[in-house]
Amino acid sequence: MERGRAPPPPWRGPWILCLLPALAGGQPLAAGEAAYEEWRATGVRGRAVELSCGPAAAAPPAVVFWSFTPQGEGLPRAVAVGSGREVAVAPGARLLGRVTLRNGTLELRELRVFAQGRFLCQGLFPERGRLRVGYAAVLLRVLVPVSKPFVRPTAAAAAEGAAVALTCSVREGTEPLSFSWQHQEPRGGPSVTPAGLGDSRAELRLTPANRSHTGWYICTVHNEVNNQTSDPIYLDIVYGPDEPAIRVEPFSPEQGGFSAGEREDVVLSCLAPSNPPSRYVWLHNGSQVHVGQTYAITAIARAQAGTYTCLAENSHLQTRTQATIVLTVYYPPAGSPSCSALASEDQRDVALRCRWLGGFPLARLRWVGPQEEEEEEEGLMGSSFSMATRIQSGAATRNGSSFSCLASHPALPLGAACGTTLWVPSGSPTCAAAATKGDEYVMLRCRWEGGTPLVTLRWRDAAGRTLGDPAASTAVLVLSTDGSLGGREFVCVAAHPLRAAAAECRLRLGKPDPSPPPVPRRVGTSLPEPSPPCRRVEVPELEAESEVAVLEGGEAQLACRQRGSGAGLGAALAWYDPKEREVTPGPAKYRLEQGEAWVNLTVRDAEWPGDSGIYRCTATNAVGTASLPVRLRVDRESRDGRQGWAGGIEPLPAGCRLSAGYPAPPNVTISKLRYTRARTEVRLEWRTQGAGNLTGFVVQRRQTKKPLREPPSPWETAAGDIEPHSRDRRLGGLDPAVLYAFRVLAVNHRTAGHPSEVQTPAEPPFEAYPAVTGAAVAGMLVATAASLLAVHCLARHRDALPRLHDLLFRT
Ligand SMILES: *[C@@H]1O[C@H](CO)[C@@H](O)[C@H](O)[C@H]1NC(C)=O
Ligand SMILES: *[C@@H]1O[C@H](CO)[C@@H](O)[C@H](O)[C@H]1NC(C)=O
Ligand SMILES: *[C@@H]1O[C@H](CO)[C@@H](O)[C@H](O)[C@H]1NC(C)=O
Ligand SMILES: *[C@@H]1O[C@H](CO)[C@@H](O)[C@H](O)[C@H]1NC(C)=O
Ligand SMILES: *[C@@H]1O[C@H](CO)[C@@H](O)[C@H](O)[C@H]1NC(C)=O
Ligand SMILES: *[C@@H]1O[C@H](CO)[C@@H](O)[C@H](O)[C@H]1NC(C)=O
Ligand SMILES: *[C@@H]1O[C@H](CO)[C@@H](O)[C@H](O)[C@H]1NC(C)=O
Ligand SMILES: *[C@@H]1O[C@H](CO)[C@@H](O)[C@H](O)[C@H]1NC(C)=O
Repeated sequence: MERGRAPPPPWRGPWILCLLPALAGGQPLAAGEAAYEEWRATGVRGRAVELSCGPAAAAPPAVVFWSFTPQGEGLPRAVAVGSGREVAVAPGARLLGRVTLRNGTLELRELRVFAQGRFLCQGLFPERGRLRVGYAAVLLRVLVPVSKPFVRPTAAAAAEGAAVALTCSVREGTEPLSFSWQHQEPRGGPSVTPAGLGDSRAELRLTPANRSHTGWYICTVHNEVNNQTSDPIYLDIVYGPDEPAIRVEPFSPEQGGFSAGEREDVVLSCLAPSNPPSRYVWLHNGSQVHVGQTYAITAIARAQAGTYTCLAENSHLQTRTQATIVLTVYYPPAGSPSCSALASEDQRDVALRCRWLGGFPLARLRWVGPQEEEEEEEGLMGSSFSMATRIQSGAATRNGSSFSCLASHPALPLGAACGTTLWVPSGSPTCAAAATKGDEYVMLRCRWEGGTPLVTLRWRDAAGRTLGDPAASTAVLVLSTDGSLGGREFVCVAAHPLRAAAAECRLRLGKPDPSPPPVPRRVGTSLPEPSPPCRRVEVPELEAESEVAVLEGGEAQLACRQRGSGAGLGAALAWYDPKEREVTPGPAKYRLEQGEAWVNLTVRDAEWPGDSGIYRCTATNAVGTASLPVRLRVDRESRDGRQGWAGGIEPLPAGCRLSAGYPAPPNVTISKLRYTRARTEVRLEWRTQGAGNLTGFVVQRRQTKKPLREPPSPWETAAGDIEPHSRDRRLGGLDPAVLYAFRVLAVNHRTAGHPSEVQTPAEPPFEAYPAVTGAAVAGMLVATAASLLAVHCLARHRDALPRLHDLLFRT
């Protein structure tokens, strides 16, 4: 409140004069000394304010009268009047708030804005026995607190670069108002006052708006009374996508791109800042391969090399950006590097060759060595791609020097290597001569094996002329024997780069021929120049069926023949059995037939499984040996459809087959051969001679007494199903008009023994025929232990041998 002195206002309100005598109770008035005071007071709407009439310390007035003149309005209105304890408040005073009056002081609670204006108080103050008239004016200002502000952006979402403004407004509040702004990042974080923006103004201008403006905004409004803060509002700035950044893991940058080893796991990730976040698409060589920010390639293949493009899209703004990288996939060449050493033409140097073709990038190769000087060259000096050749002087190389070819490749952390050791075989070449089959040609052979590179051999004649081509390790010269070679000398010269001097061996053929040595003619060709004979000889070539099948007990023929140009030169042909033993014509098991360029092996009486296996046919000549395997398969026949030389033989029950080995069957002799009652049937008995296993007997017959000069009719089998322990047989179905001859053979697993002598049947003894039969049977039963076995066997297998069974047990 501020107080100040002002001139006394004009006396208004004659009504108070009427009132005064009653209020003063007869006390004298001191009108002349009436004081006037004016001051200012401030109240806040809704709150309380006290307006006192005169200094607070002074005694309260005996009578007080308050009136009010609203701001800018002329007429005062009565508010309250009081005398002592009696107080009267004017009804219209409700407009000012809740008005009370105590001890002359006007109290306004729940102050209203309408109360802004001039309050005038007039009072009678008791003072030293008289009443002093005083009046005072209070200029009341009513302040309004600010209401809760609210923020309105020009747009809730805007693109980066656009002009965006946020406006903060309040419904009420006494001016002056001041504004302050706060900004918070989208995902929390500290609230900050946006720098450099019209921070105390009601409008926040973001011009141009950028991505950092995204987030929550609040506005606080202040005035004299209070401050109020708005609810936060969200401003979304959409932007992007920016240029994508591609990351490659594992990180292996190289010129113009990235690289990975084949079968490595590679992860490509793309980042293109954007709001809303980017949608990512990956393209490989321009074709879409993946949707998503990260593209993981497990065990990358070489076809997955190429360009990778990351496309980023902001679906809100419909904007796209892209970035491309080049990914190279390294893979090593297949296999391993190969090293070789070759002698130069003049045998002075060795060309060390290293090859490892393929791969990406090409493998880098270089030769190092020899071992003891390894430190000499380091680094990539002398390296080349895929192939590396080094010419090593033979004279400067010690026997046994090792050289290595080192291969390096980005996909092989450990690299690869091959090596070779240069050496000369010890000793000297050996010369030999051999005549081919039929003595048609002479082969001169020179050998010196071993060494790296191989020793180079060449033939010369005594005059120093080179014969044939130089060859490695073995040089063969074929000379046609024209009777002109006797006494001639041939030299084989061996050269190797690591040897300073050549080595040689010499051959002189046969006895000197007295006739002047004509130049031998050249074999197979007719070149005019009279040079010594020579002919290139190759390792023979063979051909044969790769597999031959035969039924058990049968005969198998394995044929093998030489083919090609060398076939006429008579290589030595041979067969080897599955145990790698050479087949000799001796044993009955095998038969060898041989021609100029073929050899057939017959395996007789094939056994299962013993004769099955790989047989080998070989051909050897001076140059080398060829070998060809032929598989012999011995099949076991099934019970049906078996085929044998005798034909029509019924299978024998397994339990009866006492003979399992296959040596020659025993000889047989016929002990009895007679007609029975009629001449349509004979009865035959026989014996075996000597040792030998057998599986049965066969009886054969044929007509005798044929007209002269006609060839004898063939033997036909009359009975083939006779089991091994039988020694007799009845044979029916004979033509009584025909005289038959019979013979018996023992059969040993499909191999026939020697046939018995041939007999013709005798006439039966006229009487006692049934008794003879019965006696014969009984006699047979007790005759031999073998017969007893037969009985056992027949009893067990009566179904299989019905005829025999009937024969024995019918009576
Ligand atoms: C009013 O005045 C009387 C007498 O002077 C005093 O007793 C009383 O306490 C005062 N009341 C207030 C509220 O000041
Ligand atoms: C965004 O704008 C503000 C002020 O206008 C500036 O300070 C800031 O660097 C801008 N941010 C970006 C990312 O451009
Ligand atoms: C805002 O008002 C609160 C009480 O409502 C007060 O504590 C704070 O200090 C005020 N702030 C300002 C800046 O006036
Ligand atoms: C992609 O291109 C690279 C380089 O041109 C090529 O090596 C690769 O085989 C290609 N892959 C496909 C799947 O097209
Ligand atoms: C050369 O060395 C090898 C072993 O590395 C040996 O077998 C051979 O006999 C040596 N040659 C000579 C001529 O000493
Ligand atoms: C040898 O076998 C072959 C092929 O089977 C054949 O052509 C040739 O006639 C047989 N030679 C002899 C003597 O059997
Ligand atoms: C007959 O075969 C058996 C078994 O198969 C054998 O033990 C016996 O030695 C063979 N007999 C003769 C004389 O070979
Ligand atoms: C079997 O007969 C043949 C010829 O008839 C004869 O060569 C052979 O020695 C005889 N074998 C025995 C064991 O008597």
